[in-house]
Amino acid sequence: MTLPNFAFFKGRIIPYGDAKVGVLTHTLNYGTGVFGGLRAYWNGDENQLFLFRPHDHYRRFLESAKLLLMELPYSEADIVQFTMDLLKAEGFRTDAYIRPLCYFADEIIGVRLHNLHPELTIVSIPFGSYVENEEGSHVTVSSWRRIDDNMIPARGKIAGSYVNSAFIKTDAQRAGFDEAIVLNQDGHVAEGSAENFFMVRKGVVCTPPITDNILEGITRRTVMMLLRDELKLEVVERSIDRTEIYLADEAFYCGTGVQVAAITGVDHRPIGNGKMGDVTKKLRQVYFDVVRGRSAKYREFCLPVYSKA
Ligand SMILES: Cc1ncc(COP(=O)(O)O)c(C=O)c1O
Repeated sequence: MTLPNFAFFKGRIIPYGDAKVGVLTHTLNYGTGVFGGLRAYWNGDENQLFLFRPHDHYRRFLESAKLLLMELPYSEADIVQFTMDLLKAEGFRTDAYIRPLCYFADEIIGVRLHNLHPELTIVSIPFGSYVENEEGSHVTVSSWRRIDDNMIPARGKIAGSYVNSAFIKTDAQRAGFDEAIVLNQDGHVAEGSAENFFMVRKGVVCTPPITDNILEGITRRTVMMLLRDELKLEVVERSIDRTEIYLADEAFYCGTGVQVAAITGVDHRPIGNGKMGDVTKKLRQVYFDVVRGRSAKYREFCLPVYSKA
């Protein structure tokens, strides 16, 4: 991976190589940090880089920080501005991924959330696809369970909880699958290792509710809106049983990284006819138009990074 040129670190933009923390840093030892993941899309026709739904991403970022009792001296608008400054410094003319992290900078021994000092970093790198087979993933139902809200808040993007995601992803890939579907403690479908889950069954699109230990995905919200308003489909948030997936007509993941990726098989069973279905296909077309700023109707989601020449 190409390393970034710059980092937002301790309140300013500095060379990436100078953005360093000590090995005793609280978050490095205990996972007590929160992070985000945004994408910026290059639109060659307009010579413009569009940052997708930055306010929504940073609202969730600050909510995740609130769950860990982190009080940053920055507003959502401040962090959007830092991100814009960073992207301008990098000068990308390609799709990019942005990684904000709020971490406890204290170099101490002692597990807790109180009386600690949070700091913000942001970095950005050029970025393409997150999964290899986004047009037809073969996935497995993980033997791991999704973290429960009463263990680590599942709705927050909390660094330590990604050990759970890492187990899920690695075991799926070592077993020869592209990804996994993870169940919650009740045995209902939660999501993928780092993406939300949808299935289409009998003409209705279903996705787990936010009380089933899922991350409250920004892409999930975008996709629900596009399915309803553009594809004119009924979308229902309800608990999903494992074997419903086996009988689904279509299934897909969505997330900032994965974007919209078709799931065409689960544990060697084809979903529908084993090929990407019409709903997923149409949704992907609409989604990519929206994120690249090509849809006038949804243009307000796309923040232009560069000022017009
Ligand atoms: C566990 C998990 N679920 C779902 C998502 C999708 O969320 P979003 O659409 O906000 O990127 C992510 C993405 O980072 C994730 O880490």
